Formats: sequence, structure tokens, C-alpha cells
Amino acid sequence: MNHPSTISSKLPKNGQSIFAVMSELAAEQDAINLSQGFPDFKPDSQLTKLVAEGMRKGFNQYAPMPGLLDLRHIIAEKTEDLYNIQYSALNEVTVVPGATYGIFAAISAVIKEDDEVILFEPAYDCYVPAIELNGGKPIRVELKFPNFSIDWAEVAKLVTFKTKMIIINTPHNPSGCILTADDMKQLTKLVHGSDIIILSDEVYEHIIFDNKRHESVALYPELAERSFIVSSFGKTYHTTGWKMGYILAPENLTRELRKVHQYLAFSTSSPMQYAYSKILLNPKTYTGLSSFYQEKRDYFVELVQGSRFGIQPCHGSYFQLLKYDKITDERDEDFAKRLTIEHKIASIPISVFYRNKTDNNVLRFCFAKSNKTLEKAAEILCSI
Ligand SMILES: Cc1ncc(COP(=O)(O)O)c(C=O)c1O
Repeated sequence: MNHPSTISSKLPKNGQSIFAVMSELAAEQDAINLSQGFPDFKPDSQLTKLVAEGMRKGFNQYAPMPGLLDLRHIIAEKTEDLYNIQYSALNEVTVVPGATYGIFAAISAVIKEDDEVILFEPAYDCYVPAIELNGGKPIRVELKFPNFSIDWAEVAKLVTFKTKMIIINTPHNPSGCILTADDMKQLTKLVHGSDIIILSDEVYEHIIFDNKRHESVALYPELAERSFIVSSFGKTYHTTGWKMGYILAPENLTRELRKVHQYLAFSTSSPMQYAYSKILLNPKTYTGLSSFYQEKRDYFVELVQGSRFGIQPCHGSYFQLLKYDKITDERDEDFAKRLTIEHKIASIPISVFYRNKTDNNVLRFCFAKSNKTLEKAAEILCSI
């Protein structure tokens, strides 16, 4: 059925996301799916039991708009323990239906027509559409390959009186690289004395390797006072399908965020909030995640070491980039599709995260998978 009048699209350049495309192709081809970022193992059974307990206890109706107070308290406590900063559970912590939603709501809350938003490419795919739907203008800066580092002098040149927001993401998807203390120093210098708001996407805050420190903006008071910090329970508790996360922000920013949230979703799933409020009481459930995933990264890297793929640095997240220039000079999108169809292994091409489709001949592989899946995947990769 077609609507009789021609609809003028608000996102004319956007088709289906690469994650949906590659996951569909993987299913159609019965390929091992290391494309989309989700674990193929189960969450802690204690967590699923807690959801059922929440339902039995009557957490089945609308939760309070900003989230269950117990959950907001434990999030505030966890943040203080980890980053030595106090957020008010009442006025500065908001539970949201997933980080994607939180990012959209935060951008909608503050970005107006013609506001400029600086972001770094390769960029997670939900930032630009959220900016554009709100009339804002994305200002892109490319991270420097192969370490995906930021040239802060280049960023400084792009700051104008229209710059309203800078979006950062650490640990970074798709590269697996992280920001350093020096990056945070440079960012602090850059925004000092301005009204620039920071949106800090920290969904992989608990997945960081080699004893590195997660450089949350929460560690830097001058940054925290102007930042939305986005976190995702889906990444931390192997529950991406539950779509739940939270946003930390000072009271004035939280007030605006909640104005949008109350008309977008109003509130977030009650029994899930109950469950997270209980499981978070045990800090080991998130502090143990880095070593869990570091073992997986190391195992995967060891398995593909003998292949013709080149291993790129990965300091956080659950993504490993592999360079394939010794195998073919095909474009990454073509090679990723061919690998899925001919070799039955799905990955994500990195060029899709750039407006200009910059192609460094690298593919992203998600290692949040059982060891059996990683072994099968590596066997294929070693045969190519
Ligand atoms: C960098 C980044 N931000 C945000 C999200 C979205 O998280 P959620 O599933 O909680 O919406 C993801 C998910 O892959 C991500 O990688």
C-alpha cells in the first residue's frame, strides 16, 4: 500500500543500518555472525531470576518517569565508587530504554536548527541521524588510522560560535581504541570558557583491557559539569535485547533530557529495572567484565594469529579489527559481503561509519561469542 502523496523523507540518505544488513545476510547464508555486537551466550541466571521476581512482586506497571529510585541510587553509588563524583539520584540520573534512545533524547533536548555538533569518524551510526532530525549540522573529524587517535589541533580549528556539542565515544565502536588522559586534558582545554555540551558515549565503560583506565568524563569535574554520560546495561550484563541504559548529567541538562524522555517513552521497563537494581548491589558483576572479555580478545587474537589478516590494536569494547590488505584490494563492503556468502563468516565493514566511505581495508569482528563460535570463526579466517 502506498500513501497517495509523495512523502519528502526527513532522512533521505539513510537506508537500512549495516548491522541489520549484515545480520540478515548472515542468517540467509547460515554464516557465523561476528557482525552485530551482541553476545551469543546467556546472561547471568541470577539476573533473569530477578526479572521474574520483580514481576511476581508487582513491578508490572509504569515505572517512575526518571527510573526506579532504588536503581538510580545504586547507579549514583557505583558512579561515585568508580569515578569519585557525586550525582544526585533524584535530579541527575535518568534510566532510559537503551543507549541509542538516550543519545537521541539528549541530542533532541539541546540541539536546535543550525547548531553544530562535532563528532569523530568512524562514528557509531545513530549520532548523525539524531543531529540531522533536530536540524543540527554534523561537523566530522576523522580519527587517525591505525590508532584512531584525535588530532586536537584539527578539532580546535572547527570550533565556531555555532558549536553546541562535541560527541566522544570511549571505548570506541567500531575501532576498539580508547581515549587517554591526555585526550581528556586537551578536551578540557578546548571547551574551557565555552558553553559547549559534551555527549560522552561510554557504553563499553566496563570493557577495557591491559590494565588501562577508562577515561570517563566523570573523572574530570570541568567536563562532567557540561556532559551527558551515556551507559548501557545491555553491554554490561549481556542483555542487549532488553534495551536499557542510563544517562548521568548535571541537573540543568537532566531537566531538559527528561522533558524529551517523558514524551518519547515516558518510562523504562519496570521488572528489568528491579532486576538491575538488585544485581548492581554486587560490584563484581561489572568490575569482572574487563577480564572476562580480555580473555576472549586474547583467545580470538591467538587463534587468528596464523592467518593472513593483520591484527589491529584493541584496548576496549568487544570488537577486534582485522586488516585484510594482504588478501585482496576489494572495498571493505564488497569483501565483507563476499566473506559472508562464500566463506560463511559475517563481519562489519568500517567504511560505512564514514560519510566519505574512507576505506582502510579493515573489517570489524565481534568477539562477544562463545569460545566454540570463536574457534569456528578463526578456522575459517585462517583458511582465507
Ligand atoms: C558506541 C555505542 N553506543 C551506543 C550503542 C547502543 O546501545 P543500546 O543497545 O543500549 O541502545 C551501541 C551499541 O552497539 C554502541 O556500540
